Amino acid sequence: MQDADAIPPFAARSHTPNPVPAAATPDAPAADARPLAVLFIEDSVSDFALMQATLRRAGISFQPRRVETEQEMRDALGAQSWDAIISDYSLPTFNAEAALELAQHHNADVPFLIVSGEIGEGAAVEAMLAGADDYIMKNNLRRLPPALKRSLRAAQTRRQRLHAEEQLRELSRHADRLREQERAELAREIHDDLGALVTRIRAELTMARRNSQETDTAQRLDVAEQLVASLGVAISRIARSMRPPVLDFGIVAAIEWQARDFAQRTGIPVNLNTNQDDLSLDLEQSTSLFRIFQEALTNIYKHADANRIDVELFADEHSLTLEVTDNGRGMSSDALRKQTSFGLRGMMERIRSLGGWMDIGAVQPTGRGDDATATGTTLMISIPLGAGAFPAPGNAADPSTLSESNS
Ligand SMILES: Nc1ncnc2c1ncn2[C@@H]1O[C@H](COP(=O)(O)OP(=O)(O)OP(=O)(O)O)[C@@H](O)[C@H]1O
Ligand SMILES: [Mg+2]
Repeated sequence: MQDADAIPPFAARSHTPNPVPAAATPDAPAADARPLAVLFIEDSVSDFALMQATLRRAGISFQPRRVETEQEMRDALGAQSWDAIISDYSLPTFNAEAALELAQHHNADVPFLIVSGEIGEGAAVEAMLAGADDYIMKNNLRRLPPALKRSLRAAQTRRQRLHAEEQLRELSRHADRLREQERAELAREIHDDLGALVTRIRAELTMARRNSQETDTAQRLDVAEQLVASLGVAISRIARSMRPPVLDFGIVAAIEWQARDFAQRTGIPVNLNTNQDDLSLDLEQSTSLFRIFQEALTNIYKHADANRIDVELFADEHSLTLEVTDNGRGMSSDALRKQTSFGLRGMMERIRSLGGWMDIGAVQPTGRGDDATATGTTLMISIPLGAGAFPAPGNAADPSTLSESNS
């Protein structure tokens, strides 16, 4: 069991623009420690005095402020950040439930304890379910100091975890950006340097073949020329798949191109349905969506054994939704837990960093006609869109120019 009395020094509060020095605790004195800022929601002055005395006797250094109405609480929350809130259950014009909601709205993470003389078991459970950290009966106030310390420590652990998760996400975003940048540079070099060399070798071979007097040599030069031509095609394909130039023409064109290219390479028809000609996403959004789409198609090719893919790309002023449905064997229930699989995890990371959501599951049979036996997998993602995502009429990229730029 953990020692409820040990509070590690605080991490700087994430919601505070200027980090404040660590708060003082009896267990973790810090040179620059400050007293805990504790907001009391309490109408009884004598109960307030009693709670303060109890905390001080336990060696807790704190700076209290007492409020008893909703407006006073709003003012207090707006005036500074609080390390903990201790609330009476019911006050003349206010109650703990409303106070908790207000506190959570302001800062979901602040420890919230209910101290009451009258709270019943049912109400206490309700309050805990709503997010209160603890409840203490007024006739058992010696529980208050350890309960406060425990909830402070729990809040700190939550903050540290959130901070670590945010750092991890930032790291993975950074790695993604670097990888995309490297891919783009490599693709350019492969296309420009190797592509140019291939063209020169081809020209030399053509000349040599034309000037060759010997039939056998001419035939070999002819074969070599064809091989070099194939090499040129392969180089273009590799450069394209590393960083499709079509992405520069917008996400809709890129998805269309990818769907066509996939269908050609695999023989699995991809039916694309979209309500947009063009969308102006930023580079991170469009690259992420494109990579997610690529991985969804690759997964279908690798795992689904499907012979049809339906893609829906829809956008309204709030969000963009991409839905990829296959009619394959469906996904097993342990698919998401595979230790060595990173495709779906990578998708989720990308989506989360764009502030969107992803849902993946079995195709739902509708019970009508052919659909009654439908199988397969549906992947649906959605990301929020800003007002700038919709280009002014007439500014849309012309996808008819794309085929040349792909080659
Ligand atoms: N469309 C699909 N149909 C059926 N199963 C699928 C489909 N997409 C994914 N899966 C299942 O989900 C698992 C996890 O997919 P994920 O993309 O995360 O990993 P992976 O494709 O196995 O490997 P990689 O890390 O190379 O992407 C797959 O191994 C497969 O079993
Ligand atoms: Mg995969």
